[in-house]
Amino acid sequence: MKTPFRLGTPLSPSSVKVMLLGSGELGKEVIIALQRLGVEVIAVDRYPNAPGHQVAHRAHVINMADGAALAALIEQEKPDLVVPEIEAIATPTLMELEKAGKATVIPTARAAWLTMNREGIRRLAAEELGLPTSPYRFADSLEELQAACKEIGFPCVIKPVMSSSGKGQSKIDGPDEMEAAWNYAAAGSRVNAGRVIVEGFVDFDYEITQLTVRALGKDGKVETHFCEPIGHVQVKGDYVESWQPHAMRPAALAKSREIAKAVTDNLGGLGIFGVELFVKDDMVWFSEVSPRPHDTGMVTMASQVQSEFELHAKAILGLPVNTALRAPGASAVIYGQHEAKGIAFEGVAEALRVPGADIRLFGKPESFERRRMGVALATADDVDTARVRAKEAAAKVKPVKA
Ligand SMILES: Nc1ncnc2c1ncn2[C@@H]1O[C@H](COP(=O)(O)OP(=O)(O)OP(=O)(O)O)[C@@H](O)[C@H]1O
Ligand SMILES: [Mg+2]
Repeated sequence: MKTPFRLGTPLSPSSVKVMLLGSGELGKEVIIALQRLGVEVIAVDRYPNAPGHQVAHRAHVINMADGAALAALIEQEKPDLVVPEIEAIATPTLMELEKAGKATVIPTARAAWLTMNREGIRRLAAEELGLPTSPYRFADSLEELQAACKEIGFPCVIKPVMSSSGKGQSKIDGPDEMEAAWNYAAAGSRVNAGRVIVEGFVDFDYEITQLTVRALGKDGKVETHFCEPIGHVQVKGDYVESWQPHAMRPAALAKSREIAKAVTDNLGGLGIFGVELFVKDDMVWFSEVSPRPHDTGMVTMASQVQSEFELHAKAILGLPVNTALRAPGASAVIYGQHEAKGIAFEGVAEALRVPGADIRLFGKPESFERRRMGVALATADDVDTARVRAKEAAAKVKPVKA
């Protein structure tokens, strides 16, 4: 039987210490949720003054893909929990540390390792668990890619196995686009592994994120809790808008949750998972899973009693969670629109005058044209109205060069 952490006082011998690996906008919210419980938080990122650095007890800047640097920092800080917030981490090092009893990784080091590489999680889902996915092949060269495309057929989607947020990803309609897709994937790959996945294009009606929480029950056993499904729109593999709940036929919802349960049971540990699914009529395909809060889940800051960040914070500490919906809600991303440091934001008051709307600005030190700098949130009596409100509020916020 597992028991919850005994919470203490930060910066004292009784403190519970949590280290975030990755301190972007999602990590920042997890940190705030932990701070509210008096947890001592150590925020790590690859650049100074990351959003989460600004709200933590201590901040470190390291290359988290460097196993030796990561191990040294964990040894120095000795956190009770290590919480990956991004994929690009030296996960083999986390597995070694976990095995040696030197770190407890959320949800598990194996989950972080499997999900950082599309091959690991795809083979687990499709080949071990037998879940429905798009047809797929892996390729290590242009020649292999050409052969893979022929087998899969067109249209197909090509992605570096190590990438996120749509980087290096393209949908192609015919053989003359294969070479460009190969080159684009090589440029967008996180590590220069050169391996890509070729996926058959799924002609889905809609896609959802099924947030799934593994938390301790009264008896110390792990229980699985589901949030209401989140609908979202992706542009170039990056989320621009999300809403909750997404209306689903009962059979599709039941299948989605069956798939989410199978994957998260296998990955194990405690915490929240974002299970990405494609849906057409009553058919559901597993796409991928984040063993951590999901960007499309930012809507839950408005729409749920406990946001996905509070759910994660509570679950990893062994505390009970409440996944209930508060009100139909939506989120819309605010992009930087400029390449500049220290930008300012105009129109925030106007945005907040939109009924039911709220704003989060992440405090990122540097803006890029398509960098996510903030998010507008809104609730309403129905999802359609919430979506209109969130987009209206987001459009009123105008990033400007200071
Ligand atoms: N096989 C497919 N068929 C149809 N659409 C797809 C397929 N694969 C990906 N997509 C579309 O591209 C989006 C991004 O794909 P995916 O989630 O695999 O990439 P990602 O880089 O991991 O993105 P993120 O990190 O934002 O989740 C999906 O949400 C979906 O809209
Ligand atoms: Mg995705």
